[in-house]
Amino acid sequence: MTQADSRVAHLPTTSYYCPSGKYDELWRRADEDPEGFWAEQALELDWFKRWDKVLDWKAPYARWFVGGKLNLSVQCLDRHMKTDVRNKVAFYWEGELGDSQVLTYGEMYRQVNNTAGALKRLGVKRGDRVAIYLPMIPALPVVMLACARIGAPFTVVFSAFSGQALADRVEDTGAKVIVTASGMHRRGKILPLKENAVEAAARCACVEKIVVVKHTHHQVEMDPNRDVWLSDILSGCDEYVAPEDMDSNDPLFILYTSGSTGKPKGILHGTGGYSLWIAKTMQWAFDTDAQTVWWCTADVGWITGHSYVVFAPMILGLTSVMYEGAPDYPALDRWWAIIAKYGVTAFYTSPTAIRMFMRHGEEWLSRHDLSCLKILGSVGEPINPEAWLWYYRNVGKERIGISDTWWQTETGGFMISPTPGIQMHALKPGSATKPMPGVVPAVVDADGKELPNGETGFIVIKKPWPGMLLDIYRNPDLYHKTYWSRFPGYYLPGDYCMKDQDNFLWLLGRADEVIKVAGHRISTAELESAIVGHSAVAEAAATSRPDEIKGEAIILFVTLRKGTPPSVEIKNELTRHLRATIGTLATPEEIFFVNLLPKTRSGKIMRRLLKAVATGAAVGDTTTLDDGASVDEAKAAFAELT
Ligand code: WTA
Repeated sequence: MTQADSRVAHLPTTSYYCPSGKYDELWRRADEDPEGFWAEQALELDWFKRWDKVLDWKAPYARWFVGGKLNLSVQCLDRHMKTDVRNKVAFYWEGELGDSQVLTYGEMYRQVNNTAGALKRLGVKRGDRVAIYLPMIPALPVVMLACARIGAPFTVVFSAFSGQALADRVEDTGAKVIVTASGMHRRGKILPLKENAVEAAARCACVEKIVVVKHTHHQVEMDPNRDVWLSDILSGCDEYVAPEDMDSNDPLFILYTSGSTGKPKGILHGTGGYSLWIAKTMQWAFDTDAQTVWWCTADVGWITGHSYVVFAPMILGLTSVMYEGAPDYPALDRWWAIIAKYGVTAFYTSPTAIRMFMRHGEEWLSRHDLSCLKILGSVGEPINPEAWLWYYRNVGKERIGISDTWWQTETGGFMISPTPGIQMHALKPGSATKPMPGVVPAVVDADGKELPNGETGFIVIKKPWPGMLLDIYRNPDLYHKTYWSRFPGYYLPGDYCMKDQDNFLWLLGRADEVIKVAGHRISTAELESAIVGHSAVAEAAATSRPDEIKGEAIILFVTLRKGTPPSVEIKNELTRHLRATIGTLATPEEIFFVNLLPKTRSGKIMRRLLKAVATGAAVGDTTTLDDGASVDEAKAAFAELT
């Protein structure tokens, strides 16, 4: 029994099953006639030119709405200018310090056009890449939409990534411009974003300009040849910038995420299929309407923020909340205060956040009236039934449902989730329930054979869906290898899954070398390549162990070079090194120093064994080990240090 299996075995029997006519019918139609189904749905978008062909599927490339022309900024803004949505609030923005802004769709339209004009004057042309390294401030969606408007593919880099991690991404995209802020607020401190951008620019010859948004009010050094304040390059009067007529499959954005290779890969999405997918899945999973006040707590630096903080809510003309700071600053009721203040009706967050609040008790919640809530959501990692039930009882007061949405950077939008928007209200705590219309999953064994219900295997997706990634940026070989080589013809997400007797899907965590720390995706290879970059390290292996709050925690096994004895100082130094190389999310929970890493005879690190050691589980079969002594050593090191 795998670790994932044992969790399922302990599920409470509570189930809220009720079958649904509308969902079943839509799922069947999307399956039987995908082209007809999606053509009908796509009429909800504004096209400059209709498509010639709905789907061109030459595995492993799916091209949706071929020949269609549109622009994402038009979906999010221009079309609302003709309706009452123009005066509706797009974002209630709240700063960590308690400052706030209210931005209507009309105001967003104005700012996006002005910013698009400024970027054009700076020399950004259709096809040029722009890196966006901004905190959770209104300028972030504004700059993303301005880039989309002028046809400049953008890459948003999470603001907690280091200057070096930013440089890797800037270099891979060949971005001409980095848009950043003077700094950001986090738990009362100011973090120096501009300095990190300068570090990245110094490493990347492609960068011509750094555009800086004034946000924090500390002294920032500006290089007159390279750096400009955004406020200085706006024309000073309102302008209209005509949106580029983008092909449905032209690159819209590149978002870096971790896989099994050392370097993060650039997931490439386009406009047509992606926009449609995120808008429809949001309606279906959250039953949104004109009165919805939406709050997705994800950072825009991740796919959840791209699709469901910025684009889908704006395509649908919804009012959203956007919050700059930490959930526990200045106190643990900050989020609940925000929900009550803005009358949030739909709240979407991560299991890590839920478990953190769970640990601190219900009294923080009871200070606020949360009766405005109508639906809850969860994303980023498997939600354990205990956390699900706590969320259901304490935040939802047992009166509203939870949409546990399973998906990935690569899938663009939700893949498996309850869909109350099309009358699928059935829930089971810990299960993401059923596939969206258009998603055809299967659970297979290591040979690609479909497993009977009740057995755990790999989830695969058997047909293309509109939100599917276009490619890995500048690396089609890796695209083929990562997603399509193991089970040819099927998309491989890399998660374990089990389908139960009611055909409900249970997503059980990663089946590969990807670690999910507080829902943030990071790979063992990425951690290892960062840590061996330190001069004291000879070899390293990264693994994880389950963590009560964060889901998983990073554990490192390190062999030091001759002359550096293990010490607390070197441990702290390596932690600092990882944070500087990748960012704060790479902070290890524990570093074990060993003399040898356990390896197979062919020289591969035995990860299964390290994981067993890190989690204190039985080691199991070690016959393929080259050197049994090193296993004992790793075990001894573990025993000594815990
Ligand atoms: C995990 C985040 C279980 C999964 C949207 C997936 C989940 C990876 C869920 C993608 C969920 C995301 N239940 N696991 N509801 N949502 N995951 O690309 O392992 O940052 O493969 O996208 O997160 O992470 P990514």
